[in-house]
Amino acid sequence: MSTTKKQRAQFATKFGVIATTVGSAVGLGNIWRFPYEAGTHGGGAFMLCYIAFVILLGIPVILSEFVLGRRTHANFFGCFRKLRASRGWYALSYMGIIASLMIASFYAVVAGWTIKYTQLAVTGQLTAGGDGINYSESFAQFTQGTWQPVIYTLLFILINHLVVSRGVQKGIERVSNVLMPLLFVILITLCINSLFLPKAGEGLRFLFQPDFSKLTSKVVIGALGQAFFSLSIGLGCMLTYASYFNGETRLVRTAGITAGLDTLVAILAGVIIFPAVFTFGYSPVAGPTLVFEVLPAVFAQLPGGAAWSSLFFFMLFVASLTSIISMSEINVTFFAEELHISRRKSTWLSSGIILIFGTLCALSFSGLSNIGEFSFFNFFNDFSSNVLLPLGGIGVSVFAGWVLDKNILRNQLTNNGTAKAPVRIIRTAIRYIAPAGIAVVFASSLGLI
Ligand code: PHE
Repeated sequence: MSTTKKQRAQFATKFGVIATTVGSAVGLGNIWRFPYEAGTHGGGAFMLCYIAFVILLGIPVILSEFVLGRRTHANFFGCFRKLRASRGWYALSYMGIIASLMIASFYAVVAGWTIKYTQLAVTGQLTAGGDGINYSESFAQFTQGTWQPVIYTLLFILINHLVVSRGVQKGIERVSNVLMPLLFVILITLCINSLFLPKAGEGLRFLFQPDFSKLTSKVVIGALGQAFFSLSIGLGCMLTYASYFNGETRLVRTAGITAGLDTLVAILAGVIIFPAVFTFGYSPVAGPTLVFEVLPAVFAQLPGGAAWSSLFFFMLFVASLTSIISMSEINVTFFAEELHISRRKSTWLSSGIILIFGTLCALSFSGLSNIGEFSFFNFFNDFSSNVLLPLGGIGVSVFAGWVLDKNILRNQLTNNGTAKAPVRIIRTAIRYIAPAGIAVVFASSLGLI
């Protein structure tokens, strides 16, 4: 990012724009969350809904956020202020802040797992037992402990804190620009490996063959939540990033590339996991622990498994870092700009909140923080994705489609008429398809229709 006359940072290059937006989108959502959500929701039917939602509902919402962010060059709050929106709209920003803090709290727990697994992989312990070992047990032992899950969560929060408070995101971005393409290469290699596993066919059928009898409202809302979580939309994250775009950034193209790459990585993760699930005898409905149980078995049967797994988990850690940085950006800029405190103080405030709730989420697996059936981890995970992000998506698209001046929308989408864009189709999607589609899915999940 370079500084402009307006004193607000901007992305310096086209590559920087894409890399940062994709860096926010691609993370644990694709590699950890997508496979287990698909697994618990019946595979193919979920996958189909997920892809449909990314295209029909996700892309219009990304574009709405892009338009609002670049037009106002402000955060989620400042954006409504600059556009002189009535007070009620500010509720959306508050919801975004809450969502970003909730997501960061459980995200840090899973990112902590990636640190632990990088450590196990580098020391060769992860794959030492071969693919016949039951990796579910060793993972359960780790997550159900009292101290370890908390320590790794805190470690990740500390790393995020240092990066955000020192403003060295740029450095991380540079590292991630090199590592992410490499992660992609590893994912493709692992995919090919999975395609040759004995039960590859069964795994692929599970993932790609929709069984419509499994299509319940739970599956549909799960797919919607996953699409929004994975694209980092509905909470002002893409809006904040777009506030750093310059006048030349092509919004439609950037949205398309981001959604395309994000979905591709999720599908690759699915193709890696499900053949292995069936081959090594794991259960597809294991839930949040699925990927961490199955992947060690995959690496154990791979020649050079220790090296592959070290690289893989380290890159997953970096991918989760670039994602949590984008979440922190939402609440840290909010605290700094709206409470008029320094960036250092606002980073402390944000990290402090995540620290408390992250610890509660980390202790969910041992049951220590559970209140009866209530698990902080599950609640934060489900409530943010399946409630807050869809509601935020409705709000943002209604605002961009119905409240925002039509000419502003057109000028943003076409860079003041210098770039081509299917403005009418996009406007229809933003005005009607996205809000109505999300509302229908949401209402059905509540049993209203
Ligand atoms: N999209 C990120 C991922 O897939 C998670 C995220 C959600 C990031 C919301 C920012 C905001 O891992």
